[in-house]
Amino acid sequence: MSILVTGGAGYIGTHTCVSLLNAGYSVIIADNLANSKIESINKIKEITNKEVSFYQVDVTNSVDVEKIFFSHNIEGVIHFAGLKAVGESVEKPLQYYYNNLVSTIVIAEACIKFGVEKLIFSSSATVYGDNVVPFTEEMELKPTTNPYGTSKAMCEKILIDVVNANPNFSVSLLRYFNPVGAHESGLIGEAPNGIPNNLMPYLTQVAKGKLEKLRVFGNDYSTIDGTGVRDYIHVMDLAEGHLAAFKHIKKGVQIYNLGTGNGVSVLQLIKAFEEANNMIIPYSIVERRAGDIAECYADVSKVEKELGWTAKRDVLEMCRDAWKFELNNI
Ligand code: NAD
Ligand code: UFG
Repeated sequence: MSILVTGGAGYIGTHTCVSLLNAGYSVIIADNLANSKIESINKIKEITNKEVSFYQVDVTNSVDVEKIFFSHNIEGVIHFAGLKAVGESVEKPLQYYYNNLVSTIVIAEACIKFGVEKLIFSSSATVYGDNVVPFTEEMELKPTTNPYGTSKAMCEKILIDVVNANPNFSVSLLRYFNPVGAHESGLIGEAPNGIPNNLMPYLTQVAKGKLEKLRVFGNDYSTIDGTGVRDYIHVMDLAEGHLAAFKHIKKGVQIYNLGTGNGVSVLQLIKAFEEANNMIIPYSIVERRAGDIAECYADVSKVEKELGWTAKRDVLEMCRDAWKFELNNI
């Protein structure tokens, strides 16, 4: 039996494939390489010393997707494939809604058609909007201000409706907080195209001298030091969270936060990066970034209790591994 990993060549997908292969699962990857490179497939093989089947397909194409389901004995699907740049989603809403919604519909449809009953979906903490922290899975979702976040909330709803109509189906909706860091080998990690939007890849590029200095977006939030607070989670912890979710998946819909439960401010992350890697990061405080919320961190009691999973790696390890990958990534 194999697990089909859509978007398996991307940042979180590659790390999850490593965890799955190391745990003894067979892995099939479907990725159109829209935001990743073919080399990442070889890196997965290099790290694990195991084979993977790779299909360069767009998972919005039901004919191509069904060919994969037809050719393999698939036990379940982890659906990472999607577009994820918040700013770009505002400029290209149709592209985001089309890709994220249609891919989810096509995958769910193929699961039902081929009797594959386990599906894990990549959701995001962004669906909580500006609820009061810490965010619990039971909170009412707040409409987000960008099409990316809305597409995630819509996919969640689609999958809930699919389960209601197909009671044997098992869906796990995983809401990720802020994934950072890289595999300890330094072979795979986050390599965004162009100038990074997210804090950690921006930080590592400043550390390397590719960018001049970090801009801290606002220091007048009502947080510990005025800067934005997030729940950074090591990508390998996140990967292991998928393994736990897959092992414990059961009929119906389960929703889990994948975070650490700890809020870390921008200034605290800069300090941790400096300490972990023994360097100074130049930064300046600038205006708030439009659309940002002050604080975002998880209540992780449900996932700990029900899946027995907890994030193990601390912020220093996230910073060390992110830097190691940046040094390898020319
Ligand atoms: P990523 O861009 O590195 O990986 C996504 C992969 O999906 C890429 O390899 C891309 O080529 C592929 N892809 C996109 N559309 C596709 C399509 N139609 N057909 C086939 N392949 C397609 O992103 P990531 O950070 O690894 O994120 C994985 C998932 O987790 C996404 O759904 C994202 O929205 C979600 N997520 C990410 C974060 C984050 O901060 N990284 C936070 C919350 C949720
Ligand atoms: N920040 C800076 N300078 C930068 C980049 C970011 O100060 O150059 C700050 C932001 O203002 C925020 C924090 O660092 O306070 C984290 O920002 P990121 O852009 O790294 O991450 P976000 O929390 O904005 O969003 C990320 C993903 C979303 C996902 C969300 C889930 O980009 O897709 O986490 O919590 F939905």
